[in-house]
Amino acid sequence: MSVGPQEGFTLWMTGLPGSGKSTLATLLKGKLKASGRMVEILDGDEVRKGISRDLGLSREDREEHAWRVSFVSKLLSRNGVISIVALISPYSTSREAARQVIGAERFVQVYVKASLQACERRDPKGLYAKARRGEITNMTGIQDPYEAPSDADIVVETEMATPEESVEYVLGRLRAMDRL
Ligand SMILES: Nc1ncnc2c1ncn2[C@@H]1O[C@H](COP(=O)(O)OP(=O)(O)OP(=O)(O)O)[C@@H](O)[C@H]1O
Ligand SMILES: [Mg+2]
Repeated sequence: MSVGPQEGFTLWMTGLPGSGKSTLATLLKGKLKASGRMVEILDGDEVRKGISRDLGLSREDREEHAWRVSFVSKLLSRNGVISIVALISPYSTSREAARQVIGAERFVQVYVKASLQACERRDPKGLYAKARRGEITNMTGIQDPYEAPSDADIVVETEMATPEESVEYVLGRLRAMDRL
């Protein structure tokens, strides 16, 4: 089945903490809604307050968290919604599982790319500083791995661009892919 403009799909944004996933998700949602599309954001932090409230930060729990998000995103995106997932999703196995659950034809993987140094400098939640002080011990990029994707459909580099420029880049790529 081919998926063209007006069809739902999942925009799965993976990247280090502080790379810009939530920032871009919010801006993208605004732009897409303004153009008449139905949009929902599944943000890791929010999902952890809801359907993943029982999960921690072990590998097993991170994979379960990603699986639950995949499941909900499947339901949304097959009903015409653009589901924007903003999830660190550090393991390539989880992202591959998401592609399987959602269906490859509805899955667009975006690598929100910034160096660890840049993310740590931004540190919007102060978590890198806490990790460096040893106050948290499962910080992705510090104690826990981040497996950068080599199979992303879109790579958006946020280090040398403004959020607005990065959003325009993603929208341009989606148009070129005939998703919008
Ligand atoms: N081009 C850009 N795109 C997105 N964010 C940017 C960009 N340039 C600078 N920033 C800044 O980087 C920070 C990104 O924080 P954000 O909360 O969006 O990250 P995140 O990937 O959602 O992190 P987490 O995984 O911890 O939730 C914000 O302070 C944002 O203003
Ligand atoms: Mg975020």
